Amino acid sequence: MQTLSLRSVLVTGANRGLGLELIRQLGRAERPPRYLLAGCRDPEGPRAKDLKNIAKSFSNVKIFKLDMDDVDSIQECADQIQKVLENDGLNLLINNAAINFGGGLNEITPVTMIKSYITNVVGPIMITKALLPALQQAVQLSDELGISCKKAAVINMSSIMGSIELCSNESEKSYTYRISKAALNMLTKCLANELKPQGILCASMHPGWVKTEMGGEKAPLIKEESINGILEVLSRLSDKDSGSFLDWRGQRLPW
Ligand SMILES: NC(=O)c1ccc[n+]([C@@H]2O[C@H](COP(=O)([O-])OP(=O)(O)OC[C@H]3O[C@@H](n4cnc5c(N)ncnc54)[C@H](OP(=O)(O)O)[C@@H]3O)[C@@H](O)[C@H]2O)c1
Repeated sequence: MQTLSLRSVLVTGANRGLGLELIRQLGRAERPPRYLLAGCRDPEGPRAKDLKNIAKSFSNVKIFKLDMDDVDSIQECADQIQKVLENDGLNLLINNAAINFGGGLNEITPVTMIKSYITNVVGPIMITKALLPALQQAVQLSDELGISCKKAAVINMSSIMGSIELCSNESEKSYTYRISKAALNMLTKCLANELKPQGILCASMHPGWVKTEMGGEKAPLIKEESINGILEVLSRLSDKDSGSFLDWRGQRLPW
C-alpha cells in the first residue's frame, strides 16, 4: 500500500467529519507533512474542540480561521498560510468544506441555492485562486517527474450526487447540493485544463456515503475507512488522473 508523503497540505472544513479525519490520519502518518494546515470557520468555538485536541498531539497541525463564505476570510487565511510556509510552497489543497440543505423542488429557495453555491463552489474557486502562487511555488521547488499530490494538487471533495449521468428518478433529490457539486465538478475540469500545463494536478473525489453529520447514521461507511482509501488514492494520482472524478477506492465515476 502506498502512503501519501508530502510537505504541506491544507484541508478546508477540518473541524469535524471527513476534514477532521483527514487531519487525524495525515497527522499520524509514518512521514507526516511538515505543514498540516487545518481551515475551520470558528477555531475558538465549541465545534473546533476535537481539532484543537488533535493539534495538541501533533505539533505540525496549524489551525487557521477560514470561512468559505467570506472572500476576506479566504484571502486573510491564504496570506497567513503563505507566511507560515515562507518559501516552501503548498503541495496539496483539499477543498472539503461543504453544506447540504437536502430537499427537492418544493423546498428549494433562492437563499438555499445561493448559499450552497457560495460555500460549495465559490469558496473552492476563491481559495484556489488565493493559494495559486503557493501551489506554483511548490511546482518550482519539486524535483518530482510528472504531476502528483506530492508536487502540487487541488482536490475537490465532490459527491456522486453531483454526477449528472448517475442522477435518476430513484435518487435522493437534494437539488441545491447536487447542482452545486455538478458545478464543482466543472470547476475541476476547468482547473485541470488550465493548471496541468503548469504542473498542478486537479481532480474531484467522492468519499463514499459516510457516517458524518452530513452523511447521517444510515451511511454504510465509517470515516476512517473512507479517508484511508482517499489518502491511498491520492498517493497514486498522476498525469492520467488530471481532470478526473474518482471515488475513495480509485474507481472512475461518470460526470
Ligand atoms: N458524508 C458523506 O456521506 C459524503 C458523501 C459525499 C460527499 N461528501 C463530501 O465530503 C465533504 C465533507 O463532508 P462531511 O460528511 O465531513 O460533512 P460534515 O460532517 O457536514 O462537515 C462539513 C464541514 O464543512 C465545514 N463547513 C461548512 N460550511 C463552511 C464554511 N462556510 N466555511 C468553512 N467551513 C465550512 C463544516 O464546518 P462547521 O462545523 O463550521 O459547520 C464542517 O467542518 C463535503 O464536501 C461533502 O460534500 C460527503
